[in-house]
Amino acid sequence: MTLNTAPIQAAVAILQAGGLVGLPTETVYGLAADASNEAAIARIYAAKGRPADHPLIVHLAGVAGLAQWAKNIPPAAFKLAEAFWPGPLTLILQKQPWVSDLLTAGQPTVGLRVPAHPVALAVLQAFGGGLAAPSANQFTHVSPTTAAAVLEELAGRVDLVLEGGECDVGLESTILDLSGATPTILRPGMLSRDAIEAVLGVKVAVRAASTVRVPGQHVVHYAPSTPCALITEAGLAGLSGTSALITHRRDVSVPPGVTVHVLSSDPQAYAHDLYRVLRELDHQGFQQIAILRVPDSPEWEAIQDRLQKAAGRS
Ligand code: TXA
Ligand code: MG
Repeated sequence: MTLNTAPIQAAVAILQAGGLVGLPTETVYGLAADASNEAAIARIYAAKGRPADHPLIVHLAGVAGLAQWAKNIPPAAFKLAEAFWPGPLTLILQKQPWVSDLLTAGQPTVGLRVPAHPVALAVLQAFGGGLAAPSANQFTHVSPTTAAAVLEELAGRVDLVLEGGECDVGLESTILDLSGATPTILRPGMLSRDAIEAVLGVKVAVRAASTVRVPGQHVVHYAPSTPCALITEAGLAGLSGTSALITHRRDVSVPPGVTVHVLSSDPQAYAHDLYRVLRELDHQGFQQIAILRVPDSPEWEAIQDRLQKAAGRS
């Protein structure tokens, strides 16, 4: 991608002035603000309608910025950064004392990642500091994977949205907590547990329920406003013309009148398209979006997590 520097310079000027910028990353679009400016951080929470007890991830231009934000950084963090940054991995580390409680929701830890998107990296490099950026959606909504979706969520609440095309990964980063004795996955992502374990040479834990506030762990999250239901193959016969079906299998039969959207049977491609398709179907007036259950295998773990949260309402 050739980068037009004018929008990037405009974004940096807005960020330096404490404003908000819709920023493409390889996972989903973020709502970025200066992570060392408390007024700017407060604007993020207000724009998203996000409760203040849900911490934000700080995005950095490179691993060199890590020690400014985190302390007691374990060797595992550098190993993982070397292997996966820039990329869809967020590390939770003990925070430096100066880091704002508003950013970390009062926790002694901070989430950090280096995103793999040329536009995000260009902004981060030109800006020089850390950018707080949650997904650029209203609290509990589906994360945006296009610039148009950011505007749909936040028009009038964001100063500028940078165009960066459709996000490559399509689901939010894997979050790994390295602040305690055992590396623990707090949110699965398309960067798999296997890949992390292969680099660390140790098993990592996966946290089911949480004492730490992780918005993605609300029962309803990543959800369209149309009720979503996860169904098995046996449930297909019960669908009617008021339903849309998302399926990764072409070989299923459904009653006449059901709108069928086939996604890939490859998990990477499925993840890439899922949020865009949920968003499109959400606009079409269905009474229900039914989603065929995906395989119970590690490559589908992050997708399964998001589908369960999308269906949490119904
Ligand atoms: O892929 C991503 O991670 C995207 C892009 C924009 O980078 N960002 C994203 O941010 O998904 P958000 O705020 O929507 O989700 C970040 C998650 C939240 O569940 C938050 O609670 C958790 O990271 N988090 C942030 N700091 C944390 C901390 N110190 N301890 C535990 N969880 C933390
Ligand atoms: Mg989010």
